[in-house]
Amino acid sequence: MTDTNKTSAASAMWGGRFAGGPAAIMQRINASIDFDKRLYAQDIRGSKAHCRMLVRQAILTEADGAAILTGLDKVLAEIEAGDFPFSAALEDIHMNVEARLAEIIGEPAGRLHTARSRNDQVATDFRLWVRDAMDGMDTALKGLIAALLDRADEHAATVMPGFTHLQAAQPVTFGHHMMAYVEMIGRDRGRLADARKRLNESPLGSAALAGTSFPTDRHSTAAELGFDRPMRNSLDGVSDRDFALEFLSACSICAIHLSRLAEELVIWTSAQFRFVKLSDAFTTGSSIMPQKRNPDAAELIRAKTGRVIGDLTALLLVMKGLPLAYSKDMQDDKEPVFEAADTMELAIAAMTGMIGDMTVNTAVLHAAAGAGFTTATDIADWCVRALKMPFRRAHHVAGSLVKLAEDKGIGLEDLTLAEMQAIEPGITEDARAVLTVESSVASRTSFGGTAPIRVKEAVAAARAALAGAG
Ligand code: ARG
Repeated sequence: MTDTNKTSAASAMWGGRFAGGPAAIMQRINASIDFDKRLYAQDIRGSKAHCRMLVRQAILTEADGAAILTGLDKVLAEIEAGDFPFSAALEDIHMNVEARLAEIIGEPAGRLHTARSRNDQVATDFRLWVRDAMDGMDTALKGLIAALLDRADEHAATVMPGFTHLQAAQPVTFGHHMMAYVEMIGRDRGRLADARKRLNESPLGSAALAGTSFPTDRHSTAAELGFDRPMRNSLDGVSDRDFALEFLSACSICAIHLSRLAEELVIWTSAQFRFVKLSDAFTTGSSIMPQKRNPDAAELIRAKTGRVIGDLTALLLVMKGLPLAYSKDMQDDKEPVFEAADTMELAIAAMTGMIGDMTVNTAVLHAAAGAGFTTATDIADWCVRALKMPFRRAHHVAGSLVKLAEDKGIGLEDLTLAEMQAIEPGITEDARAVLTVESSVASRTSFGGTAPIRVKEAVAAARAALAGAG
């Protein structure tokens, strides 16, 4: 079955040697306009830069160049006003824009495609789009870091249980816990910045794959589009999508960080923990159980991480085994990137909202911090310091104290001095002072440690870095 009516426009672009139009199903599998219309701004920006360069190089006349530039601005305005007639028959954003340009300005529109191909055009558009997405995501991550820093500052001295194996391990400060995520998100920003540097080269002018015989100036188009330089190899320029893969990898790792924090929020908001309370704005109720306040946003962030990782996997598999240079498989590069970028935008915004709004239950955290003999390491350390005991023996002493307290159903701090001395005669009243959760966290002043004074310093340093690095 053919649909020659609808395809006549596309055929005008490439159909010189075709007698008939494509089958309807061919058009459906081939068309990308439904999703690549999101590249319209980048496409028009790239075309304008290309057009100006063609004029500068005397490949196009001033008059044709001026007509093309004005026409492209009209196309842009139509798309932004929402009254652009997108057509699947015209396959993709590039041909939709060019066909409309031809309707508006006539013959000169056909000269715009001199010395380029859709292959370098789409590679350029997509790089520009991903670069914008990276910049937007970086701004959003700065907002999340700022929210985490506020909570860390506020709760630099709030004690909570630190966990390993999700078993109470040692007391830590809530601020320190928040700052761990500040570090992770900071590295996520670093990954985006690194990827951005490698992305920021212009494929424009690579043409179909081999470069062009026209006297183009790729350096000037690269500069106009904010790229650091033109890509050095035309085959590479049209055929790699590693910049998109790097973006998706950075998104995936960031999504994993968000998912871990989301998981903690799910645990912490449960009735069994009650460490934090999420605001009405970031929870939902149950239609049957009136007491419920569900952390849906956190759960959905956790779930959406799978999609983002799926997007990375999808594009890795599109690229795997493709011979150089361009293959149509690469048209399938866009949807995973769009989905990941949209998902990250939503997830980061929701996480920023939850962190900013949550109430930290300091009393519950304090009580939980001491449960489970979390200061056992502190008494072992005291034996090492005060009694010059080897750590392994001190560990044994502390273990015996824990067993005694456990048998009696009391906390370590509730053991009498006599009971402690029965296990280790060297223990004095001083040792009891290290058993409070406050002294435990205050003592952990090593670089990167949980002591409130270190947390305050870390917050100040992170705030300075956030303000300074822009
Ligand atoms: N829509 C296409 C894509 O995204 C544009 C490039 C088409 N190139 C080609 N040789 N058919 O990949």
